[in-house]
Amino acid sequence: SNQIKNAKLVLLGDVATGKSSLVLRFVKGQFVEFQVSVAFCDSCSIASCESTIGAAFFSQVVAVNDESVKFEIWDTAGQERYHSLAPMYYRGAAAAVVVYDITNAATFTRAKKWVQELQAQGSPNTIVALAGNKADLLEARQVSAEEAQTYAQENGLFFMETSAKTAINVNNIFYEIAKRLTQV
Ligand code: GTP
Ligand code: MG
Repeated sequence: SNQIKNAKLVLLGDVATGKSSLVLRFVKGQFVEFQVSVAFCDSCSIASCESTIGAAFFSQVVAVNDESVKFEIWDTAGQERYHSLAPMYYRGAAAAVVVYDITNAATFTRAKKWVQELQAQGSPNTIVALAGNKADLLEARQVSAEEAQTYAQENGLFFMETSAKTAINVNNIFYEIAKRLTQV
């Protein structure tokens, strides 16, 4: 039908899990290995810091069969001081991608908190995807794919391990969301 469906999408997740990197990979096909450490980043000035401040906006179109989904992407900041802004971005969102880092178990715990918050305060129709990012760092893995898959199934999410660095599953996760959005 050649229709374009606009879809607000929000990325949520702990600091440095790779939310901005996933968006950069998806929208521009690029990856940047930032030099600054997170600890430094948290206390550095805005100008020299790569950690997201507040939120950043991007858009990208995905074609599914004869339909198109134009994602309006809000890449939120993972730092706790920005937590109170999050509802502005997830309210009314067609989709949310909750991101954790497979090499950091604490970020998986934080991801579960985001899922709880979405289930309690978000819109019931929001499609929620769980992304286990940094899947290229297998030797440093702390969260098994089985554990995440089980959690996702129990909570009605769909789950993929991704890597913004190697591009594994990055287009795929957005495509799967687009597919679900064109089915409604
Ligand atoms: P905040 O904006 O602070 O919430 O962080 P973020 O979730 O946007 O993380 P960001 O994209 O800034 O990535 C943090 C660090 O992880 C950067 O050094 C990235 O290069 C690195 N990174 C992101 N994705 C991957 C990945 O898939 N694999 C590897 N090896 N590193 C990644
Ligand atoms: Mg960011």
